[in-house]
Amino acid sequence: MLNARCAEPLNRRPARFRAGVTHHPDPHASLVAGRVWRETHWREPEEVGLAGRRLPRWSEFRPLLRPARVQLDPTERRLRRAYTIADLRTIAAHRVPRAVFDYTDGAAEQETSLRRARRSFARVEFHPQALRDVSTTDTGTTVLGRRWPVPFALAPTGFTRMMHHEGERAAVRAAQRAGVTFTLSTMGTTSIEQIAQEAPGADKWFQLYVWRDRAAGKDLVERARAAGYEALVLTVDTAVAGARMRDVRNGLTIPPALTPSTVLDAAIHPAWWVNLLTTEPLTFASLSEWPGTVAELVNAMFDPALTFADLDWLRGIWLGPLLVKGIHTVDDARAAVDHGADGVIVSTHGGRQLDRAVAPLEVLSPVVDAVGDRAEVLLDTGIMHGGDVVAALALGAKACLVGRAFLYGLMAGGERGVDRAIAILTREMTRTLQLLGARSIGELNRSHVSLRRAGS
Ligand SMILES: Cc1cc2nc3c(=O)[nH]c(=O)nc-3n(C[C@H](O)[C@H](O)[C@H](O)COP(=O)(O)O)c2cc1C
Repeated sequence: MLNARCAEPLNRRPARFRAGVTHHPDPHASLVAGRVWRETHWREPEEVGLAGRRLPRWSEFRPLLRPARVQLDPTERRLRRAYTIADLRTIAAHRVPRAVFDYTDGAAEQETSLRRARRSFARVEFHPQALRDVSTTDTGTTVLGRRWPVPFALAPTGFTRMMHHEGERAAVRAAQRAGVTFTLSTMGTTSIEQIAQEAPGADKWFQLYVWRDRAAGKDLVERARAAGYEALVLTVDTAVAGARMRDVRNGLTIPPALTPSTVLDAAIHPAWWVNLLTTEPLTFASLSEWPGTVAELVNAMFDPALTFADLDWLRGIWLGPLLVKGIHTVDDARAAVDHGADGVIVSTHGGRQLDRAVAPLEVLSPVVDAVGDRAEVLLDTGIMHGGDVVAALALGAKACLVGRAFLYGLMAGGERGVDRAIAILTREMTRTLQLLGARSIGELNRSHVSLRRAGS
């Protein structure tokens, strides 16, 4: 019979139980020593609550034995251990050199904008509706006239081949497989045409930074149109480069320079270095080679004199859907739409530009109220969970963009890592919808979500 003492966890059982029934300290000790040990330590079964027990039968034991299937592929093995985006981030941190991880993971100055954006999702309070039939859920939505199977897209990210040698190619293939829209950055490391060839069936957007040299910008727009990109995303929060202190301290250049510390790093991350040195050189696809840091490049090429008049210029040369990314205020959202934008992306650039900026989730509803009837409102920055996407949609966003979430997957396992990130977000989103009692994205509304007061 099981007595109360035996039911206690092992580490709380009295020492004499542990000593009495485990093992003899030295089976080859002398007989005398053995007798002394027995007299000191041995306890009768009744004393330790084992009376009435029996040995298990093999037939009972066997069904409990379920040996794990051995996974020989190391990437697959790694990715199987990732159940959340945070898990992918942990794996990523071990896969790439410190400066590369920091470039991706880091944000501007004190990184307050990024922390604030992530914390705003912790302020979300869901209000589920009970007894709805959620046996089937539809995560699909329509963005700028196109049907998306999930309400998120991959955000534009520069230097993606630094995170993994297959970079944008891996990401766009994974995006195509999942039906997710992929956005190529002006600072991409794969060209507009190569991406179009790589994944002809994927929905693709092109993100534009307006150069001081307008003719070069116009050329990119024309190439994007010719290659079949569906929408143009103009990023407007980059008048000058944000101060990304991790990059400054790491002395990051693109491509990373071979210094004593990077040579040492090569010993710890040999696969990353071998891939870097044995594949196509890591350069920007849309501009000629740049010898300096990212901040120096941004400050030399980007035009800080950009105004809404340039949006009119762009509207004149791009006839397809046009989104303005990096909107922080209601007034700017209104002005962007007045100047011809079909959509605005409420975004703080992943916290990588202005530090201490407002959290996008916290200004989303006023922006939706101001322009939602004339334009589509999207949101990014800080999304680490599918439930974050659901919260943004309930507060009025049409869809979200995810940046680091897919980059962590890319660093953790290349194309399969991006697959994993998309699958994790989709699964989390579907579960959140079902637990909220919503059968589809269209059923979400503000009654499903409120934001707790900061700090409560
Ligand atoms: C490594 C990295 C590079 C980025 N490069 C660009 C870029 O070239 N153009 C751009 O508009 N946004 C860029 N962004 C910002 C993203 O498009 C997006 O706004 C941001 O990543 C969203 O925040 P999240 O990473 O928390 O999802 C970059 C973000 C990261 C993390």
